[in-house]
Amino acid sequence: MPLCNMRDLLCDAKKGNYAVGSFSVANLECVIGVVAAAEEARAPIILQCAEIRLRYTPLSTLGPLMLAAAKAASVPVAVHLDHGATISCVEEALRLGFTSVMIDGSHLPLKENLAEVRQVVAMAKATGACVEAEVGRVGRGEDGSDSPTVAASIDDCLRMDETGLDALAVGIGNAHGLYAATPVLRYDILEQLSGKLRAHLVLHGGTGLTDEQFRKLISLGMRKINIATDIFRAAAMARRTEDIFANITNSSAAVKAVTQKYIALFGSAGKAE
Ligand code: 13P
Repeated sequence: MPLCNMRDLLCDAKKGNYAVGSFSVANLECVIGVVAAAEEARAPIILQCAEIRLRYTPLSTLGPLMLAAAKAASVPVAVHLDHGATISCVEEALRLGFTSVMIDGSHLPLKENLAEVRQVVAMAKATGACVEAEVGRVGRGEDGSDSPTVAASIDDCLRMDETGLDALAVGIGNAHGLYAATPVLRYDILEQLSGKLRAHLVLHGGTGLTDEQFRKLISLGMRKINIATDIFRAAAMARRTEDIFANITNSSAAVKAVTQKYIALFGSAGKAE
């Protein structure tokens, strides 16, 4: 069960009423840990990296690593570009063989956001890759930079859906990074969208939400849930020694443990068969 299309994973999740974890990876240890967790839990997963992080690990190196891990995995793994900021990066991801790309124009006026998404939907047709976009705004940048949380309007969601995209991230009071306090999520937006979208709903800013919030979000149709901060923290805070190989093992094991926790919460364990 090698590299697979994200669309198939999200359609299965819809049928089974669970969510697929989309785990951000920054290095080899993250990739090894996330895939090992998925294999042990027999869960489909998504490996993702955000464009803003590629200044540390270029896509030309990290991308093939993610793809190789997906192809070797014994469970379905989709490989996704998170928060694509430029068309050139989206192009590179598609050229490398990513099975999903996000173009994030949530900071733009809706008309420009829609135009960019239409352009990427057209580009992705050539490879069959999925396309994700964002409306409203998830608070803080993926790299922790400051930006406000903006609740998505129903009308904007419906207009975005008309572009033919596959997955839609909606601002519902969520934010990237660590929350100072448990956020109040706008479930009413998801209730109003129920049954109205062709695209699957995506939650960004998963780190720090409560188990109850995840359960409620999944019951309201959230099919892809992004986790970055908890993965990065686990990898960085794993026990350090003077032995680089012990560090790789410790870091991968820490990432595996945190990934397994989320897979169990999202209800995707055992869904790989
Ligand atoms: P967290 O860093 O809050 O887990 O958010 C991840 C995310 O949404 C990546 O796009």
